Amino acid sequence: MKQVLIAALITLFLLVGGVALTFAFQTPEDNPRVFNMEDAEREELAYRVETVRSADELISGGIDLLMANAPREEQAAVRPVLSTVRANLAKLGQITEREENNRMVDESVNALRAINAPSMQTAIYRLADHHDLRLRVRWEPDMEKVNTGWEVYQQNCSTCHGANGDGDQITPEGLSVFPRDFTGQSHRSRSVVFKFNTSDRPDMLALDEDLRKTIREGLPGTPMPGFSDFSDEELDAVIEFIKTFGYAAWKFNHPSGAGISVPEIPADFNSPESVDTGRELFVSRGCQACHGDVENGGPPLANQVTDWVYHGELRPIVPRDYAHDPIRRPAIEDMFKTIRLGVKGTPMLANNISDDDTWDLIAYVLHVKQLGIEGKVKLQERPAEAEATPAPAH
Ligand code: HEC
Ligand code: HEC
Repeated sequence: MKQVLIAALITLFLLVGGVALTFAFQTPEDNPRVFNMEDAEREELAYRVETVRSADELISGGIDLLMANAPREEQAAVRPVLSTVRANLAKLGQITEREENNRMVDESVNALRAINAPSMQTAIYRLADHHDLRLRVRWEPDMEKVNTGWEVYQQNCSTCHGANGDGDQITPEGLSVFPRDFTGQSHRSRSVVFKFNTSDRPDMLALDEDLRKTIREGLPGTPMPGFSDFSDEELDAVIEFIKTFGYAAWKFNHPSGAGISVPEIPADFNSPESVDTGRELFVSRGCQACHGDVENGGPPLANQVTDWVYHGELRPIVPRDYAHDPIRRPAIEDMFKTIRLGVKGTPMLANNISDDDTWDLIAYVLHVKQLGIEGKVKLQERPAEAEATPAPAH
């Protein structure tokens, strides 16, 4: 009886232990990506977050802390302007725009410059830098979404974009378009780049709306498929997850505003006159220099474009042949944004042109596309896509 009891106890112990062990080891194995976050990145961020936190404390402690640390003679000199500086710094904590932050700091420093208080000036600048950093922190991953997103990603995206998000998973021969690297390592600039980024601030990354559109609708003419059957929850989760590949970049460069706005499509859009004006603009604005004389079957400029590196080689990005290549963002409003803002991370730069000119250019591009559909423009001789320019030594 005793033996049976002991045996039962041992079994129970093993069972409980087994269950506990399973739980203890489950999370990292279930979600290797989240637990393998680059150590260096973590350290850097931990440091920066800590800096930001202490800046917040400094701001709430305000000028008194700065005063206590300033040399005696400065303290005496500062006293007359103290209330102005105090009021300005108190406002810093509530400011949410970087420009205003900087203006407020300049005001405070100028007041101190007038009375020669160099150590206080330095301290205020340092405080302002820290505060600026705090204003830049625009994103923290929502771990619940990240975990769901990891599953969605593994099932639908990693075959192309790679388990590490570096897009180096498949390199189909003869393909000029490679899966996006979400870590940023394969772009010449060594930074996270999304081609379709309609944020109104050029220093910020793509809007969630841009990513949603790409994932829902896909990118025609490339292997990137559309996932129209994703629920809103799956879509949001996978977006949250792919941001973790470029954690630091997203953290400090997450857009917070809206995208650029598109004016109403004019009533005479697509008229023969607007196509003619568009044709002229296409030459005078330099579009033809890259895209070629598409309307007359001219090929796009070959291999001049090599911004993305795959397997150590720079790869060409070939300008669109409007007559035959699908346009990735084909909606007219989206083309407006693309022509205005450019295709990020490619030589197709932003264009500072009027609304009217933009509409005329779109009308011309669509006109050429129509000629292609009707078979009036011959398929062009393609530039040798496989012959990528070798990567330069760094
Ligand atoms: C069959 C391969 C393939 C699969 C599967 C795939 N992608 Fe892509 N994806 C691509 C390619 C190729 C590109 C690059 C297209 C380009 O540069 O125009 C791309 C580009 C992207 C971009 C960048 C768009 C931009 O503006 O630069 C995002 C975001 C993206 N994919 C997300 C996803 C997500 C999320 C999934 C899974 C739900 C997924 N992709 C599945 C091939 C794929
Ligand atoms: C320096 C070369 C260059 C110049 C100049 C240039 N483009 Fe492009 N353009 C490109 C490249 C390269 C792409 C393809 C980028 C990609 O999708 O990877 C492109 C793509 C496009 C697209 C397709 C976007 C999509 O959704 O697929 C449009 C439309 C376009 N260009 C219009 C224009 C117009 C209009 C002008 C003149 C105002 C212009 N481009 C000037 C290189 C150029």
